[in-house]
Amino acid sequence: MIKKNVVNDFIVLTKEQDSKYLIIFNDFLSYNLKIIKVFRSIEDTKVSLIDTEYGKFVLKVFAPKGKKNERFIKSMLKGDYYEKLFHQTARVRQEGFDAPNDFYLLAERKTLRFAHCYIMLIEYIEGTELADIEHISDSLKHDIKNSIVSLHHHGMVSGDPHKGNFIIEDDVVRIIDLSGKRPSASRKAKDRIDLERHYGIVNDKKDAGYYLLTYKKALRSFLRKIKRKK
Ligand SMILES: Nc1ncnc2c1ncn2[C@@H]1O[C@H](COP(=O)(O)OP(=O)(O)OP(=O)(O)O)[C@@H](O)[C@H]1O
Ligand SMILES: [Mg+2]
Repeated sequence: MIKKNVVNDFIVLTKEQDSKYLIIFNDFLSYNLKIIKVFRSIEDTKVSLIDTEYGKFVLKVFAPKGKKNERFIKSMLKGDYYEKLFHQTARVRQEGFDAPNDFYLLAERKTLRFAHCYIMLIEYIEGTELADIEHISDSLKHDIKNSIVSLHHHGMVSGDPHKGNFIIEDDVVRIIDLSGKRPSASRKAKDRIDLERHYGIVNDKKDAGYYLLTYKKALRSFLRKIKRKK
């Protein structure tokens, strides 16, 4: 069961009644965390591996900077992707699909539905990133494809299935950094097209979503060409 809490000026969603995630969040607020490794540190995103009394976790802090007005309007119209991702993750894992990393806590500082920053506590997956595998075998490609097909079947999309967003843990394909967006036919088609682009996994499903996406792409590049000619 997902629980909503208020901690300082953050709205905090946690998985289960368990307070250990809130304890870790409070440690974060008081700069009391042990960081083992920094996976990513760019202007708006920090991803770290932390060690706590409850074990290792990944802590992701995302504070988008630009296009504030646009993001504000989008959040009012469409809601909040990370909140959706939190609920989606809990749902699919309840359904028995556990390829996506578990998501334990989401803290947001909000104005109405608009989040200024996101703090996420997620499952640490210990394994090998696809980016670190030199030769991706046919059998691994088959498993990657199945993981995305199952993800779609459970009503989620990856949004960006590149080699940094899969980790092989004990020979099992795990998916990280999911999108939380509505799993429309064209978003699912985009995942399949991306699999073909990144891994040569042939997209054998050319449905309405696929044609809508390719039509939109063609239209966009046509409009770009016209603009350039002006
Ligand atoms: N749950 C996890 N378990 C293990 N490693 C992780 C996990 N989450 C993130 N990482 C590591 O941190 C890196 C960056 O994390 P993540 O993909 O969430 O950030 P991002 O900035 O959204 O990435 P992208 O480049 O896909 O936009 C990953 O490529 C991976 O190396
Ligand atoms: Mg990523």
